[in-house]
Amino acid sequence: MAEQRKTARKANGNGKVKIAAMGDLHIQEDAQTSYRDLFGEISREADVLVLTGDLTNLGKPKEAELLAEDLRACSIPVVAVLGNHDYESGCVDQIAATLRQAGVYLLDGQATELMEVGFVGVKGFVGGFGPRMLGSFGEPAIKAMVAESVNEAMRLENAMRQVRAKRTLVVLHYAPIPETVTGEPPEIFPFLGSSRLAETIDRFKVSAVVHGHAHRGTFEGQTPGGAKVYNVAMHITKPTGRPYALLEI
Ligand SMILES: [Fe+2]
Ligand SMILES: [Fe+2]
Repeated sequence: MAEQRKTARKANGNGKVKIAAMGDLHIQEDAQTSYRDLFGEISREADVLVLTGDLTNLGKPKEAELLAEDLRACSIPVVAVLGNHDYESGCVDQIAATLRQAGVYLLDGQATELMEVGFVGVKGFVGGFGPRMLGSFGEPAIKAMVAESVNEAMRLENAMRQVRAKRTLVVLHYAPIPETVTGEPPEIFPFLGSSRLAETIDRFKVSAVVHGHAHRGTFEGQTPGGAKVYNVAMHITKPTGRPYALLEI
């Protein structure tokens, strides 16, 4: 069956695009929660829905199928990245295929343009922040971990270079700055994201950055270069008073 992607509407009068962003749905195969009503509401409020990973709880194909079913209630285009939970059961290819089949623009080191906005997506990885970032030293296992963090930043850079639009939204799962993970126990900050992502972002002009993963973090922050960063995990209190943030870019 061909992918059924939703048609993008035209930008509103001021030329801005309204983006609803939300992460960490953690859909479980035995859960009673349906996102249908919320996706219907978002379709009325926004032009594009952005999902910032941890879409499933244990990375099970059935969980992705439930999300795909609920997304039938969403009448606007959906852009997404996967999160660490979506990798848990080793079925990431199947999950990605299910979501793409449902019409999701699933980004993993790519960019796509909708309504003259470039959406750039990569999951990101752990590693810590600022001068305390984990360095490539010592055991091969540590070096492999740092290499993965660097690799995700390079994949983000390559995707940024594909963008031709004047406005860009960067979509991540892991945080690029410590400000938006503040609220989590400080001991786990290094596992919530990496400044290597912010270093890459600051080499480009971006309109905003959204991420999830830090359920107990802080909604708003900015990169050292001044790019606005929003933690849109469902659990974070947002100005909308709803599980999703609304950004106009
Ligand atoms: Fe999560
Ligand atoms: Fe996560």
